Amino acid sequence: MYQSNDSNALNYFIAPEPVFEQDNDLSDQISPKIKAKKQVLCVKQLTKAYKGGKNVLDNISFDLYEGEFVAVIGRSGAGKSTMLHTLNGTISASSGEILDVSGEHENVITMPRKQLRHWRSQCSMIFQNFCLVPRLDVITNVLLGRLSHTPTWKSMFKVFDDKDRVKAIELLKWLKILPHALQRAENLSGGQQQRVAICRALMQEPKILLADEPVASLDPKNTTRIMDALQKVSGEGIAVMVNLHSIELVHQYCTRVIGLEKGKVVYDGAPAGLTDDILHTLYGDEVDQLS
Ligand SMILES: Nc1ncnc2c1ncn2[C@@H]1O[C@H](COP(=O)(O)OP(=O)(O)OP(=O)(O)O)[C@@H](O)[C@H]1O
Ligand SMILES: [Mg+2]
Repeated sequence: MYQSNDSNALNYFIAPEPVFEQDNDLSDQISPKIKAKKQVLCVKQLTKAYKGGKNVLDNISFDLYEGEFVAVIGRSGAGKSTMLHTLNGTISASSGEILDVSGEHENVITMPRKQLRHWRSQCSMIFQNFCLVPRLDVITNVLLGRLSHTPTWKSMFKVFDDKDRVKAIELLKWLKILPHALQRAENLSGGQQQRVAICRALMQEPKILLADEPVASLDPKNTTRIMDALQKVSGEGIAVMVNLHSIELVHQYCTRVIGLEKGKVVYDGAPAGLTDDILHTLYGDEVDQLS
């Protein structure tokens, strides 16, 4: 796994076919290419209200397929982070269904705690602040991603199998961060830490990888590296879903885009279908500030 074959992965994504079109029954518009791929998630009427508040996610429904690279866009406060966190189970939804269709069709919203732990390894999340352990070296941080597959006593003493070490090394090499394997995480740049966080997430062998604004604080060079890395991940068949604030990156990398406005899906389709009208619905007057 993760044997890099850049040219294949890139060819696949250079000219993404439209996945959805607007104004119709969206589920019937999935292109044959995507339909042939295995579905990994089914979200139905997902709703979230924080304590005493109004709905932050309002009746959201969509399906997710392996190998998709989905951008979630919308203005600040639209509910992007809340949505990713509810999918991963770190925030509990108020109602609806998040079905693990590649597994037992269990609903994440009602999963018992133990099962939820397993789900979080299958639907892995890269948090905005990476959540690495600053004083631990890079390779140990990556190995920590294996905890959900490691017996408790072993994880307490940070005892990892050789097989896991080899896998961690392969991942670090794959994302070109191996030379930093023995450095403390805190000594790495933001872009390097982000790549370590991706490696750690991949150690869990997820079917879905979620990333909350993975390039928010990065310079252009590191932004390209991270987006390339995420594209590589989706090229391996993992469904990748990222919150982005850059429409340019959406067009450059993503196969599909979900636009949120006040917690509702107002667009679900190919990046090419993002018209000025749709962007205006999503961003209002802030549309001119978009890159
Ligand atoms: N823990 C919380 N308690 C109460 N309200 C919250 C909480 N977290 C988020 N919210 C509210 O939910 C709404 C959606 O927030 P969310 O962080 O999901 O938006 P976002 O689209 O990710 O925004 P941004 O682009 O700024 O990150 C906002 O109105 C926010 O104030
Ligand atoms: Mg957010």
